[in-house]
Amino acid sequence: MAPATWPRRPVVSAEVLKIFACSLLVLMENNFSVRAMNQLLKEEIVKRPAETMKLAIPAGIYTLQNNLLYVALSNLDAATYQVTYQLKILTTALFSVSMLGRRLGLYQWLSLLILMAGVTLVQWPTESEGDSEQKILSAGSQFVGLMAVLMACVSSGFAGVYFEKILKGTKQSVWVRNIQLGLFGFVFGLVGMLVYDGQRVKQSGIFQGYNTITCTVVVLQALGGLVIAVVIKYADNILKGFATSLSIITSALISYFLLEDFNPTSIFFLGSMLVIAATFLYGYECKPPSSSTIKV
Ligand code: C5P
Repeated sequence: MAPATWPRRPVVSAEVLKIFACSLLVLMENNFSVRAMNQLLKEEIVKRPAETMKLAIPAGIYTLQNNLLYVALSNLDAATYQVTYQLKILTTALFSVSMLGRRLGLYQWLSLLILMAGVTLVQWPTESEGDSEQKILSAGSQFVGLMAVLMACVSSGFAGVYFEKILKGTKQSVWVRNIQLGLFGFVFGLVGMLVYDGQRVKQSGIFQGYNTITCTVVVLQALGGLVIAVVIKYADNILKGFATSLSIITSALISYFLLEDFNPTSIFFLGSMLVIAATFLYGYECKPPSSSTIKV
């Protein structure tokens, strides 16, 4: 397994790329006028420090969450990690209900439980993966890993819903909000990188060890962040959980048909069925019996 410090530099690069991409989108929204873009960013970011500071909270929590997940991955076996991290589906629903006042019916809670089970099975490590990942884990290390992943579930639910509240509660553009989030993410990431990886960065620079895969991960991380923001703005965090689960199945099917490097197991099929059933169940509305017959 890679040392726990390796992802910090790519995270900082992804934040820079995200800020750059969002600035480009703001530029497009302003008919490619650099002056109008600068003016808008000054008005929205520099002159409204209180609004900008609000984004320090999700950015800080996401930074903490990324670190917690690495602690979890280093101290738990893949199966325990996958099962436990799915609890974020429930924490997200709980925060949506308590912070946004969203109401969920019985069928919707049930569908979230089924979704959790489904996505756990879909991501269940195959025997060969399990063998290659076998680690000797002490009870203490498992406890640390479990605590880390449970805290990441809470932080994932809270940060996502807090960001949703900000996005939906104000008129600011989703791209400006992402620039604010990215600025704090960049600062926190940079501090983390200098503290844990400073010596190596001083010696060989920030991009040492980068290869095509690292660059691809950085681009995907940045793009993923933008897509997540749009989903949270125009849909919500709970639906994001369904979209993520369905995307795991889609990418597995793509690797099966196009890359031929994935062999679906019966556990994968069962998990996929559960995810699909949960998706339908979530949208199912219990309609009251039609009154037309009574009227007649
Ligand atoms: O597991 P979870 O869904 O909470 O992960 C969300 C991820 O999306 C985090 O790594 C966070 O940094 C990223 N994100 C982002 N931009 C946003 C919202 C989330 O990069 N606007």
